[in-house]
Amino acid sequence: MSAEKKYLSDLERGSKQLVLVGGKGGVGKTTCAAAIALHLAASKRKTLILSSDPTPSLSDIFEITVGARETPIPHAPNLTALEISSEIVLEKWKDRFGREIYNVVSSFADLDYDFVLDYVGGAPGIEEEYMLYYIMELVKEGRYDLVVWDTAPAGHTLRLLHLPELFLRHLEGATKFYLNLYSYLERARETVKLKKGKQSILEIISGWQALSNEIAAFIRDERLTEYIVVTIPEALGVKQTERIIQDFDAQRLPVHSLIVNHVIEKADCAFHQTRKEMQAHYIRLLTEEYGERLHLTLLPLYPYEIKGIERIQDVSYLLFR
Ligand SMILES: Nc1ncnc2c1ncn2[C@@H]1O[C@H](COP(=O)(O)OP(=O)(O)O)[C@@H](O)[C@H]1O
Ligand SMILES: [Mg+2]
Repeated sequence: MSAEKKYLSDLERGSKQLVLVGGKGGVGKTTCAAAIALHLAASKRKTLILSSDPTPSLSDIFEITVGARETPIPHAPNLTALEISSEIVLEKWKDRFGREIYNVVSSFADLDYDFVLDYVGGAPGIEEEYMLYYIMELVKEGRYDLVVWDTAPAGHTLRLLHLPELFLRHLEGATKFYLNLYSYLERARETVKLKKGKQSILEIISGWQALSNEIAAFIRDERLTEYIVVTIPEALGVKQTERIIQDFDAQRLPVHSLIVNHVIEKADCAFHQTRKEMQAHYIRLLTEEYGERLHLTLLPLYPYEIKGIERIQDVSYLLFR
């Protein structure tokens, strides 16, 4: 993307409002997201760490029950955590968009409200879409300077951004007709006076379009959003990283940093020596592929799990040194 390489430490100086941490499951996303959030909170930015992972991982790492309520983290000033489940995301999404979607659909099909919402709510990407909307609103509210989003372990976290297309594509046939009609009316808007009165279907759809554009602008703005990919130096890790970075590139999302976790630093036995050599091969591959454009940080494999503020702080130190 950008020719200029950015460093993790740039985050401290910048005015980022969203830091998204992605990568395959188990590579250390939550660990890195927590370390990044803790560090930025320590530099006096009011920080929310948000996890949409179905397994309640923030509670584990911070050793405090977090759950679906904004929970201040003890001994970590300016840091609040929130675990949001897909059910809650979907409910909030229905509250926000349900009536509008129903109005659009019921203008050409006589269907039950819950049926329509369950159907459209099942569209792939809806959750991520709503998450982004939710995060954007959180940031706009101004209670937090920064949101660090520990994403769910899917390589395809970001199939989003096309709110109207997403809803409508999911509805297939009838909608194709509707969209044709829509674009016809759009073109005819100049000559045909559209009926005034309650919010028209066209207004609803253009509202979604506008919202979609606003979200897209927010998550593509390098001044506001930062993407960090976490991986491990193994074949699968390298493959998944390639896929994730391709996805980010395709969506024009500015990714600047790659954290390579679980790196064996000192091998004190033959077993670890062999693994260390294996890792060196993949670290070389990653460096060849991304060293020019991304900031690579190697994070060592610890002999213990990373839990509790002090151990998270150790990770912060290594990430931002
Ligand atoms: N560098 C590391 N050294 C030792 N254990 C680690 C390291 N990074 C992560 N872990 C441990 O691995 C497990 C998975 O990490 P986590 O951050 O939850 O991964 P993810 O969020 O990607 O699924 C956790 O138990 C965590 O403590
Ligand atoms: Mg996790």
